[in-house]
Amino acid sequence: MKERPSKPKISRREFLTLSGVGVAALSAACSPPMAAEQVQTQAEPPPAQRVCRLAHLTDFHILPQAGIQEQVAKAFRHVQALEDQPDFVLNTGDSIMDSLTTSKEDAERQWQAFLEVVQNECHLPIYHAIGNHDVWGWGVKQAGIQTDPLYGKGLAMQKLGLSAPYYSFDVGGWHFIVLDSVHPANAVSKEPYIGKLDEEQFGWLEAEVKRVAPDTPIAIASHIPILSACELFDGPNEESGNWVIPGAWVHIDARRFRQLFLDHPNIRLCLSGHSHQHERIDYLGVTYLTNGAISGNWWRGSYMNFPPAYVLVDLYSDGSVRQQFVPYG
Ligand SMILES: [Fe+2]
Ligand SMILES: [Fe+2]
Repeated sequence: MKERPSKPKISRREFLTLSGVGVAALSAACSPPMAAEQVQTQAEPPPAQRVCRLAHLTDFHILPQAGIQEQVAKAFRHVQALEDQPDFVLNTGDSIMDSLTTSKEDAERQWQAFLEVVQNECHLPIYHAIGNHDVWGWGVKQAGIQTDPLYGKGLAMQKLGLSAPYYSFDVGGWHFIVLDSVHPANAVSKEPYIGKLDEEQFGWLEAEVKRVAPDTPIAIASHIPILSACELFDGPNEESGNWVIPGAWVHIDARRFRQLFLDHPNIRLCLSGHSHQHERIDYLGVTYLTNGAISGNWWRGSYMNFPPAYVLVDLYSDGSVRQQFVPYG
């Protein structure tokens, strides 16, 4: 028996059509004949509505020092003084200076400094992701440390109030997926981590995007960028005669994401930190925003020409994205 053809997968062009752009044209084509000028009016796509504004603050790298805490407070105050307020704050990690290579007590002090500022200064809803420097102890060579229940991501999860290192939520008709992109190192990484999802988390991500309605735009947040061009310039990465970008800088499993994104054209945006630089890449219908750092050059001015800043991200009903880089100093 001939099989009934399965429903074709939605293409990016079709997604745009379904989500607004082109709907008027379709309805005009199916309606009774109208005067030429009426048809022209009907054929114009309705303007996309802004449905969500978020303030992306990342890479705080806070230390328990009054000057640094005051600067972080200043960033939150800058956001909250905007006339056009964001719906929420997104923090994509590296909240503290570093706990990869420190004692637990040192890490605790840094978390205390971070939480103090967030509790006192952030009056908007805030969502957190885990950064590489938020992971406690992966770079510490001390016998028995691994048996501490807070070793690795446990301490960051406890401090940030996360019951899982990756999760999702909905705002303004968009679905947000927050990933845990810090994976233990492979054999060639010079860092104690690489940017990657393990099988369990990737399976969760696949199930998550499948369960979301195909006309709901999806944004994915990860500390480490899934795709980045600015990382090319961070160091002499071409000196061997080939470009060499460590897997600790950009997701080493990016090709796997690329395919997932092709299969799910309603995935429209990836947000990340980690590079302390700001860029926008539009590639195969997905916008990749890497959004600078609240700490700039780890509290020593600008990094690679990018001053300490946050980024305002406006999301629209048709899945489109606009952003604004905001130095707050
Ligand atoms: Fe960072
Ligand atoms: Fe980082």
